[in-house]
Amino acid sequence: MEKRKLGKNGPEITTIGLGAWAIGGSSTSFSWGEQDDNDSIKAIQAALDSGLNWIDTAAAYGFGHSEAVVGKAVQGRRDQALLFTKCGLIKDPDSRDAVRDLSPASIRRECEDSLRRLNTDYIDLYQFHWPDDRTGTPLEESWATMRELVKEGKVRYTGVSNFDVALIKRCLAVGPVDSLQPPYSLLRREYADETLPFCKENGIGVIVYSPMQSGLLTGKFDINKVAEDDWRRRNRMFVEPRLSNNLAFVERIRPIAERHGKTVGQLAIAWVLMNPAVTAAIVGARSPQQVVENNGAADWRLSDDEMAEIQRAIVETEV
Ligand SMILES: NC(=O)c1ccc[n+]([C@@H]2O[C@H](COP(=O)([O-])OP(=O)(O)OC[C@H]3O[C@@H](n4cnc5c(N)ncnc54)[C@H](OP(=O)(O)O)[C@@H]3O)[C@@H](O)[C@H]2O)c1
Repeated sequence: MEKRKLGKNGPEITTIGLGAWAIGGSSTSFSWGEQDDNDSIKAIQAALDSGLNWIDTAAAYGFGHSEAVVGKAVQGRRDQALLFTKCGLIKDPDSRDAVRDLSPASIRRECEDSLRRLNTDYIDLYQFHWPDDRTGTPLEESWATMRELVKEGKVRYTGVSNFDVALIKRCLAVGPVDSLQPPYSLLRREYADETLPFCKENGIGVIVYSPMQSGLLTGKFDINKVAEDDWRRRNRMFVEPRLSNNLAFVERIRPIAERHGKTVGQLAIAWVLMNPAVTAAIVGARSPQQVVENNGAADWRLSDDEMAEIQRAIVETEV
């Protein structure tokens, strides 16, 4: 599988990395329902066996459970897996929700906990999960803490997620930003106009999340098969009338995938990888079968005609 450099100075990463949100289990208000840890471990191992060289997780996913499962799965093969994780969303003591906290003490505490759960002594890419609009910590102090963690050897590269250009510039004034992790899919294109070109111009790597819109664009999505406590049941993308419109869009683009003997999910991943600012896609999978199928997108380049056909479908279905 093709590898690309993450930003100016980062590691060479495969164009697909494994996303570990769904394998966090059902303990949070943003869970994907029950998940068997054995399936998760098999999925991670299948990803590494197939040549994917990085995994994206976060302390918030299952409040540590996802990191613990990743740590277990990469035992004995740490050299084959770049570990990307995130801080800044901590458990609300009174609920199953997460709250934002990028205060230096909290970042340091979270970093130690992540190192322990991942069973490693360094994190390859440490990322801010969301901007902190709650504790009043100046972003400059938060970013300086991240850069200290690099100097201390606990973290190799530092990135941000869900940050706009103004916030990224504030980090850049303190020290390097190696990557951005934004939402980007056929159904979510709001970062494409300003933020992605800014990253390209400034040598900031981009690893996009939810390229299949959390399952909606796989071509197999059925809301009736989604668990009662799965966050998707309450998300605006998955609620009527938008759900039916999104699924009508999937049917519109299905023939493009089928002409190549591919799935709509593979088409959705291939499409995000066509954006020149995008380094790689974070693709979630809950089983080895899903991993193997999704990898079929990696080296598929869409033609100009196909890109235009997809653009027409976006406009005409108003997604
Ligand atoms: N920074 C952030 O704020 C943020 C936010 C969201 C995601 N992320 C990261 O990005 C990663 C990927 O995003 P995502 O998990 O939301 O979405 P995604 O990659 O668009 O979709 C993944 C989901 O689609 C379904 N799926 C995957 N492969 C499939 C296949 N071959 N056939 C049928 N269904 C398939 C699975 O769920 P079902 O089988 O249950 O349908 C899977 O969990 C996350 O794991 C996380 O690491 C980060």
